[in-house]
Amino acid sequence: MRRQVLAARAVFPEAIARLREHFDVETNDSDEVWPQPELIRRLQGKAGVFVTGTEKIDEPLLAACPDLRAVCSMAVGYNNIDVPACTSHGVLVSNAPDVLTETTADFGFALMMATARRIAESEHFLRRGEWTKWSVDMFAGSDVHGATLGVLGMGRIGQAIARRGALGFGMKVLYHNRSRLDAAVEAQLGARWVDKATLLRDCDHLVIVVPYSAASHHLVGTAELALMKPTATLTNIARGGVVDDAALAAALRTRRIAAAGLDVFEGEPQVHPALLTVPNVVLTPHIASASIPTRRAMADLAVDNLIAALGAGPSAGKPPTALNPALLGHA
Ligand code: GLV
Repeated sequence: MRRQVLAARAVFPEAIARLREHFDVETNDSDEVWPQPELIRRLQGKAGVFVTGTEKIDEPLLAACPDLRAVCSMAVGYNNIDVPACTSHGVLVSNAPDVLTETTADFGFALMMATARRIAESEHFLRRGEWTKWSVDMFAGSDVHGATLGVLGMGRIGQAIARRGALGFGMKVLYHNRSRLDAAVEAQLGARWVDKATLLRDCDHLVIVVPYSAASHHLVGTAELALMKPTATLTNIARGGVVDDAALAAALRTRRIAAAGLDVFEGEPQVHPALLTVPNVVLTPHIASASIPTRRAMADLAVDNLIAALGAGPSAGKPPTALNPALLGHA
Protein backbone atom coordinates (compact mmCIF):
# COMPACT_ATOMS: atom_id res chain seq x y z
CA MET A 1 0.00 0.00 0.00
CA ARG A 2 1.27 3.50 -0.84
CA ARG A 3 2.18 5.65 2.12
CA GLN A 4 0.24 8.83 2.75
CA VAL A 5 1.76 12.28 3.06
CA LEU A 6 0.36 15.74 3.68
CA ALA A 7 1.45 18.97 1.99
CA ALA A 8 0.48 21.38 4.75
CA ARG A 9 0.62 24.49 2.53
CA ALA A 10 -0.03 25.10 -1.15
CA VAL A 11 3.11 24.64 -3.22
CA PHE A 12 4.17 24.40 -6.86
CA PRO A 13 2.17 21.69 -8.72
CA GLU A 14 5.46 20.18 -9.94
CA ALA A 15 6.50 19.53 -6.33
CA ILE A 16 3.18 17.84 -5.55
CA ALA A 17 3.51 15.78 -8.75
CA ARG A 18 6.91 14.54 -7.62
CA LEU A 19 5.45 13.47 -4.28
CA ARG A 20 2.57 11.74 -6.08
CA GLU A 21 5.06 9.53 -7.96
CA HIS A 22 5.68 7.81 -4.60
CA PHE A 23 2.86 8.58 -2.18
CA ASP A 24 -0.82 9.37 -1.79
CA VAL A 25 -0.78 13.10 -1.20
CA GLU A 26 -3.34 15.29 0.56
CA THR A 27 -2.91 18.94 -0.35
CA ASN A 28 -3.99 22.26 1.14
CA ASP A 29 -5.50 23.94 -1.89
CA SER A 30 -6.95 26.89 0.03
CA ASP A 31 -3.47 27.51 1.50
CA GLU A 32 -4.87 28.56 4.86
CA VAL A 33 -2.57 28.09 7.84
CA TRP A 34 -4.46 25.30 9.58
CA PRO A 35 -5.03 25.74 13.30
CA GLN A 36 -3.23 23.06 15.33
CA PRO A 37 -6.28 20.75 15.83
CA GLU A 38 -6.92 20.82 12.07
CA LEU A 39 -3.28 20.06 11.27
CA ILE A 40 -3.34 17.15 13.75
CA ARG A 41 -6.59 15.85 12.26
CA ARG A 42 -5.17 15.92 8.74
CA LEU A 43 -1.96 14.22 9.86
CA GLN A 44 -3.77 11.10 11.06
CA GLY A 45 -2.46 8.15 9.06
CA LYS A 46 0.20 10.30 7.36
CA ALA A 47 3.80 9.06 7.32
CA GLY A 48 5.25 12.38 6.19
CA VAL A 49 4.48 16.05 5.99
CA PHE A 50 5.77 18.85 3.80
CA VAL A 51 5.82 22.04 5.85
CA THR A 52 6.97 25.64 5.63
CA GLY A 53 7.92 27.99 8.45
CA THR A 54 4.28 28.44 9.45
CA GLU A 55 3.47 24.98 10.83
CA LYS A 56 4.22 24.29 14.47
CA ILE A 57 5.56 20.79 15.00
CA ASP A 58 5.71 20.31 18.74
CA GLU A 59 5.47 17.59 21.37
CA PRO A 60 1.63 17.58 21.63
CA LEU A 61 1.32 17.30 17.84
CA LEU A 62 3.86 14.49 17.68
CA ALA A 63 2.13 12.62 20.51
CA ALA A 64 -1.16 12.95 18.63
CA CYS A 65 0.26 11.78 15.27
CA PRO A 66 1.88 8.39 15.93
CA ASP A 67 2.16 7.44 12.25
CA LEU A 68 4.35 10.44 11.40
CA ARG A 69 7.92 9.52 10.37
CA ALA A 70 9.19 12.60 8.49
CA VAL A 71 8.72 16.37 8.71
CA CYS A 72 10.37 18.12 5.76
CA SER A 73 10.42 21.88 5.64
CA MET A 74 11.15 24.14 2.69
CA ALA A 75 12.43 26.83 5.09
CA VAL A 76 16.00 27.07 6.31
CA GLY A 77 14.95 28.34 9.76
CA TYR A 78 13.33 25.62 11.87
CA ASN A 79 12.37 27.35 15.10
CA ASN A 80 8.80 26.15 14.41
CA ILE A 81 9.92 22.52 14.74
CA ASP A 82 10.93 20.91 18.03
CA VAL A 83 13.75 18.79 16.62
CA PRO A 84 14.65 16.98 19.89
CA ALA A 85 10.97 16.05 20.36
CA CYS A 86 10.86 14.77 16.76
CA THR A 87 13.98 12.70 17.40
CA SER A 88 12.50 11.15 20.51
CA HIS A 89 9.37 10.25 18.53
CA GLY A 90 11.52 8.74 15.77
CA VAL A 91 10.54 11.48 13.30
CA LEU A 92 13.12 12.60 10.74
CA VAL A 93 13.33 16.38 10.28
CA SER A 94 14.89 18.29 7.38
CA ASN A 95 15.21 21.96 6.48
CA ALA A 96 16.33 23.68 3.27
CA PRO A 97 19.75 25.30 3.68
CA ASP A 98 22.07 26.64 0.93
CA VAL A 99 19.53 26.92 -1.90
CA LEU A 100 18.29 30.27 -0.58
CA THR A 101 21.55 31.79 0.65
CA GLU A 102 22.35 34.14 -2.24
CA THR A 103 18.73 35.18 -2.87
CA THR A 104 18.22 35.97 0.80
CA ALA A 105 21.49 37.89 0.94
CA ASP A 106 20.41 39.90 -2.13
CA PHE A 107 17.22 40.81 -0.32
CA GLY A 108 18.98 41.66 2.94
CA PHE A 109 21.25 43.98 1.04
CA ALA A 110 18.33 45.51 -0.88
CA LEU A 111 16.40 46.11 2.33
CA MET A 112 19.45 47.67 3.97
CA MET A 113 19.93 49.96 0.98
CA ALA A 114 16.24 50.89 0.84
CA THR A 115 16.46 51.72 4.54
CA ALA A 116 19.64 53.78 4.28
CA ARG A 117 18.41 55.67 1.21
CA ARG A 118 14.83 56.11 2.49
CA ILE A 119 13.27 54.54 -0.59
CA ALA A 120 9.95 53.45 0.92
CA GLU A 121 9.45 56.64 2.90
CA SER A 122 10.07 58.83 -0.16
CA GLU A 123 7.87 56.64 -2.38
CA HIS A 124 4.97 57.00 0.06
CA PHE A 125 5.51 60.78 0.02
CA LEU A 126 5.39 60.82 -3.78
CA ARG A 127 2.26 58.60 -3.91
CA ARG A 128 0.52 60.88 -1.43
CA GLY A 129 0.99 63.70 -3.95
CA GLU A 130 3.19 65.71 -1.57
CA TRP A 131 6.10 66.21 -3.99
CA THR A 132 5.80 69.81 -5.10
CA LYS A 133 9.46 70.74 -5.56
CA TRP A 134 12.99 69.32 -5.49
CA SER A 135 15.04 70.39 -2.48
CA VAL A 136 18.60 69.95 -1.31
CA ASP A 137 18.01 67.73 1.72
CA MET A 138 14.84 66.01 0.59
CA PHE A 139 14.99 62.43 1.89
CA ALA A 140 18.75 62.65 2.30
CA GLY A 141 19.85 59.42 3.92
CA SER A 142 23.17 57.76 4.63
CA ASP A 143 25.71 56.21 2.32
CA VAL A 144 26.11 52.47 2.01
CA HIS A 145 29.36 52.41 0.01
CA GLY A 146 32.37 52.89 2.24
CA ALA A 147 30.27 52.67 5.42
CA THR A 148 30.73 50.13 8.22
CA LEU A 149 28.51 47.08 7.87
CA GLY A 150 27.72 45.18 11.07
CA VAL A 151 26.58 41.59 10.59
CA LEU A 152 24.98 39.98 13.62
CA GLY A 153 25.07 36.22 12.99
CA MET A 154 27.68 35.04 10.54
CA GLY A 155 26.26 31.85 9.05
CA ARG A 156 25.92 31.24 5.33
CA ILE A 157 23.58 34.19 4.70
CA GLY A 158 25.60 36.53 6.93
CA GLN A 159 28.74 35.65 4.98
CA ALA A 160 26.98 36.26 1.66
CA ILE A 161 25.91 39.70 2.87
CA ALA A 162 29.42 40.47 4.14
CA ARG A 163 30.82 39.53 0.74
CA ARG A 164 28.42 41.89 -1.01
CA GLY A 165 29.35 44.69 1.36
CA ALA A 166 33.11 44.24 1.21
CA LEU A 167 33.58 43.39 -2.45
CA GLY A 168 30.70 45.26 -4.04
CA PHE A 169 30.41 48.37 -1.91
CA GLY A 170 33.83 48.82 -0.34
CA MET A 171 32.35 48.53 3.14
CA LYS A 172 34.30 47.84 6.28
CA VAL A 173 32.74 44.66 7.65
CA LEU A 174 32.43 43.87 11.35
CA TYR A 175 30.58 40.83 12.62
CA HIS A 176 29.53 39.18 15.81
CA ASN A 177 28.75 35.51 16.11
CA ARG A 178 29.04 32.93 18.90
CA SER A 179 31.84 31.25 17.01
CA ARG A 180 34.49 33.02 14.99
CA LEU A 181 35.12 32.18 11.36
CA ASP A 182 38.45 30.70 10.36
CA ALA A 183 41.06 33.40 9.86
CA ALA A 184 41.26 32.49 6.17
CA VAL A 185 37.51 32.96 5.69
CA GLU A 186 37.63 36.24 7.64
CA ALA A 187 40.42 37.43 5.36
CA GLN A 188 38.55 36.37 2.24
CA LEU A 189 35.42 38.23 3.37
CA GLY A 190 37.40 41.14 4.76
CA ALA A 191 35.40 40.73 7.97
CA ARG A 192 36.54 41.30 11.56
CA TRP A 193 34.97 39.64 14.64
CA VAL A 194 34.06 42.06 17.45
CA ASP A 195 32.02 41.69 20.62
CA LYS A 196 28.34 42.52 20.36
CA ALA A 197 28.61 45.92 22.08
CA THR A 198 31.42 47.00 19.75
CA LEU A 199 29.44 45.84 16.75
CA LEU A 200 26.40 47.87 17.81
CA ARG A 201 28.49 50.92 18.67
CA ASP A 202 30.67 50.99 15.56
CA CYS A 203 28.44 49.96 12.68
CA ASP A 204 26.60 52.30 10.32
CA HIS A 205 24.31 49.57 9.04
CA LEU A 206 23.41 46.58 11.20
CA VAL A 207 22.04 43.49 9.44
CA ILE A 208 20.64 40.76 11.68
CA VAL A 209 20.84 37.19 10.44
CA VAL A 210 20.84 34.99 13.57
CA PRO A 211 18.51 32.00 13.91
CA TYR A 212 15.74 32.40 16.47
CA SER A 213 16.02 30.44 19.71
CA ALA A 214 15.43 31.11 23.39
CA ALA A 215 19.02 32.42 23.47
CA SER A 216 18.44 34.94 20.68
CA HIS A 217 15.05 36.19 21.94
CA HIS A 218 15.22 40.01 22.06
CA LEU A 219 18.92 39.95 21.28
CA VAL A 220 18.38 43.56 20.23
CA GLY A 221 16.19 45.62 22.55
CA THR A 222 16.29 49.01 24.25
CA ALA A 223 19.75 48.57 25.78
CA GLU A 224 21.30 47.45 22.50
CA LEU A 225 19.59 50.18 20.46
CA ALA A 226 20.95 52.70 22.96
CA LEU A 227 24.48 51.72 21.92
CA MET A 228 23.93 52.41 18.22
CA LYS A 229 24.80 55.60 16.38
CA PRO A 230 21.84 57.96 15.88
CA THR A 231 22.62 57.80 12.16
CA ALA A 232 22.66 53.99 12.08
CA THR A 233 20.16 51.68 10.39
CA LEU A 234 19.00 48.23 11.48
CA THR A 235 17.83 45.53 9.08
CA ASN A 236 16.22 42.31 10.35
CA ILE A 237 15.88 39.39 7.94
CA ALA A 238 16.34 36.73 10.64
CA ARG A 239 13.18 36.04 12.62
CA GLY A 240 10.65 38.05 14.55
CA GLY A 241 11.50 37.91 18.23
CA VAL A 242 15.23 38.42 17.69
CA VAL A 243 14.46 42.15 17.82
CA ASP A 244 12.14 43.65 20.45
CA ASP A 245 9.73 45.31 18.00
CA ALA A 246 8.16 47.62 20.60
CA ALA A 247 11.59 48.89 21.65
CA LEU A 248 12.58 49.33 18.00
CA ALA A 249 9.43 51.31 17.19
CA ALA A 250 10.19 53.60 20.13
CA ALA A 251 13.79 54.04 18.97
CA LEU A 252 12.62 54.91 15.47
CA ARG A 253 10.03 57.37 16.73
CA THR A 254 12.56 59.23 18.89
CA ARG A 255 15.24 58.94 16.14
CA ARG A 256 17.50 57.06 18.58
CA ILE A 257 18.49 55.31 15.35
CA ALA A 258 17.85 56.66 11.87
CA ALA A 259 15.84 53.92 10.23
CA ALA A 260 15.04 50.21 10.06
CA GLY A 261 14.22 47.61 7.43
CA LEU A 262 12.16 44.66 8.63
CA ASP A 263 11.16 41.51 6.77
CA VAL A 264 10.22 39.54 9.91
CA PHE A 265 8.10 40.40 12.93
CA GLU A 266 7.20 39.16 16.38
CA GLY A 267 3.84 37.37 16.01
CA GLU A 268 3.75 37.78 12.21
CA PRO A 269 1.66 38.13 10.14
CA GLN A 270 0.63 40.61 12.81
CA VAL A 271 2.90 43.65 12.90
CA HIS A 272 3.40 45.72 16.04
CA PRO A 273 0.99 48.66 15.52
CA ALA A 274 3.64 51.19 16.54
CA LEU A 275 5.83 50.09 13.62
CA LEU A 276 3.01 50.90 11.22
CA THR A 277 2.91 54.51 12.38
CA VAL A 278 6.61 55.42 12.20
CA PRO A 279 7.77 56.72 8.82
CA ASN A 280 11.41 55.66 9.00
CA VAL A 281 10.94 51.94 8.57
CA VAL A 282 10.70 49.76 5.46
CA LEU A 283 8.33 46.84 6.06
CA THR A 284 8.12 43.70 3.90
CA PRO A 285 6.07 40.52 4.52
CA HIS A 286 8.77 37.86 5.11
CA ILE A 287 9.84 37.58 1.47
CA ALA A 288 13.65 37.51 1.71
CA SER A 289 13.93 34.15 -0.08
CA ALA A 290 11.06 34.88 -2.48
CA SER A 291 12.52 34.72 -5.95
CA ILE A 292 10.71 32.21 -8.13
CA PRO A 293 13.76 30.02 -8.87
CA THR A 294 14.76 29.97 -5.20
CA ARG A 295 11.28 29.16 -3.91
CA ARG A 296 11.18 26.32 -6.46
CA ALA A 297 14.58 25.06 -5.30
CA MET A 298 13.48 25.20 -1.65
CA ALA A 299 10.31 23.23 -2.39
CA ASP A 300 12.28 20.70 -4.45
CA LEU A 301 14.78 20.18 -1.66
CA ALA A 302 11.98 19.54 0.85
CA VAL A 303 10.44 17.06 -1.60
CA ASP A 304 13.82 15.32 -2.11
CA ASN A 305 14.10 14.99 1.66
CA LEU A 306 10.57 13.67 2.11
CA ILE A 307 10.91 11.08 -0.64
CA ALA A 308 14.27 9.87 0.70
CA ALA A 309 13.22 9.96 4.36
CA LEU A 310 10.30 7.65 3.62
CA GLY A 311 12.60 5.20 1.86
CA ALA A 312 11.73 5.99 -1.77
CA GLY A 313 13.57 7.47 -4.77
CA PRO A 314 17.26 7.32 -5.72
CA SER A 315 18.47 8.56 -2.29
CA ALA A 316 16.19 6.28 -0.28
CA GLY A 317 17.14 6.44 3.39
CA LYS A 318 19.56 9.33 2.84
CA PRO A 319 17.64 12.62 2.99
CA PRO A 320 20.14 15.25 1.82
CA THR A 321 19.63 17.89 4.50
CA ALA A 322 18.34 16.02 7.53
CA LEU A 323 18.65 17.79 10.89
CA ASN A 324 18.61 14.56 12.91
CA PRO A 325 20.26 12.09 10.52
CA ALA A 326 21.46 9.88 13.38
CA LEU A 327 17.88 8.64 13.47
CA LEU A 328 18.55 6.86 10.18
CA GLY A 329 21.90 5.56 11.33
CA HIS A 330 24.09 7.82 9.20
CA ALA A 331 24.87 11.00 11.06
C1 GLV B 1 12.65 31.76 5.78
O1 GLV B 1 12.52 32.58 6.64
C2 GLV B 1 13.34 30.53 5.96
O2 GLV B 1 13.71 30.19 7.09
O3 GLV B 1 13.53 29.82 4.97
